[in-house]
Amino acid sequence: MTPTELLLDRASCKSYTSEPLLPDEARLIVQAGQAAPSGMNRQPTAFLAVLDPAIRDRLSRLNAAVLQTKTDPFYGAPAVFAVLADPSASTYLYDGSLAAGQMLLQANALGLGSCWIHRAREVFETEEGKSILKQAGLPEDYEGIGFVIAGHPATKPAVKKKTSLTGWLV
Ligand SMILES: Cc1cc2nc3c(=O)[nH]c(=O)nc-3n(C[C@H](O)[C@H](O)[C@H](O)COP(=O)(O)O)c2cc1C
Repeated sequence: MTPTELLLDRASCKSYTSEPLLPDEARLIVQAGQAAPSGMNRQPTAFLAVLDPAIRDRLSRLNAAVLQTKTDPFYGAPAVFAVLADPSASTYLYDGSLAAGQMLLQANALGLGSCWIHRAREVFETEEGKSILKQAGLPEDYEGIGFVIAGHPATKPAVKKKTSLTGWLV
């Protein structure tokens, strides 16, 4: 697929096989997030890459608790990335969201499924969430922006029709 086709082909994947990600695949996904533009190039983002099944499951439980459900909000995906950002940077929310977007696209380029999963802010406001950040050597006062889950699709998701308003002045 050409790069343009890859951009247009992305779709959120909500079912995964248990096949783990290779460390190199995980690194390339994080690199795509790090490569994102940021306001004044402050790069206020931080990335947590979780391939360890026990920690992945703890994050899943914390996320499910926010939703008040017992089902896995990560749809069985073996790899979970969290994008966080320093809220003292005025553009932190935009910077973090853009980084997550690039990670979703990189996963697609690698032939993997991916999806943005919400509630990262609430998860990393909890003591357990902060302790996971501490264990990874990340600042505990950064705000969770979003989770990017990735893995091998159990079924390839269909690309949805997009109808956002567009005004053309040519
Ligand atoms: C900010 C944001 C939050 C989202 N949160 C969730 C979520 O918590 N759980 C989920 O299954 N999908 C979540 N999604 C994925 C959307 O459901 C998905 O992007 C949307 O349905 C469009 O489908 P597409 O990504 O295949 O184009 C989120 C997407 C965004 C951008």
